[in-house]
Amino acid sequence: MDPAGRYSQVMFDFAPSSPADTPAGKATLYADLIFAAGAVMKGERDAIANMANVAALIWQFLPDLNWAGFYRHVDGELVLGPFQGKPACIRIPVGRGVCGAAAATLETQLVADVHAFPGHIACDAASASEIVVPVVRDGKLLAVIDLDSPTPARFDTQDAQGLERLAASVAEALS
Ligand code: SME
Repeated sequence: MDPAGRYSQVMFDFAPSSPADTPAGKATLYADLIFAAGAVMKGERDAIANMANVAALIWQFLPDLNWAGFYRHVDGELVLGPFQGKPACIRIPVGRGVCGAAAATLETQLVADVHAFPGHIACDAASASEIVVPVVRDGKLLAVIDLDSPTPARFDTQDAQGLERLAASVAEALS
C-alpha cells in the first residue's frame, strides 16, 4: 500500500539538451537544469535528499567543474552539505572565504581568480575560479551553492543568473 505515492520508483533520466558554449546554449542548459531540479524535488521535503539530487544534477549538467555542492547554514556557520567532487572543508565561518562572503552579504560571489580573492579557502588545489550563490527564503540564509572550476574565469553573469534561479527553487523546497 502506497496511497501517497511516497515510495514510487521514478527513474530520473535527465540530460542537457544543449552545449554551454553560446549564450543561447547556456540559457537552454540552465532552463533544462532548473526543470530537472524541480522534477527531482517535487513532493519531497527532506532538505538533504533535495540538496543531494540538485548537487548531482549540477555536476551532470554543467561542464568544466571540479566541485559542486552545498554548505548549509547551521547555528550561525556554514557546514558542508551534499556535494560532488573531492572531500572538502567541513565548517566555514560566515564572512570567511568566498562561501562566507556570500553568506555574509546574501549576494552571489563571482570570482574569476580564486587566488586573488582575500581569504579564499583552498579545499581543492585544482580550483581556479568559483561562484557561490546564497539560498535565501524570507530573508533568511538557508545554505549556499558553491561551484568550483579548474578553468580561470569559468563563470559569468549568465551562470550567476541561472544559479540564482536554481537557488530560488531550492529555497522553496527547503522550507
Ligand atoms: N573555496 C571555498 C571553500 C569551499 S570549497 O571550494 C568546496 C571558499 O573560499 O569559501
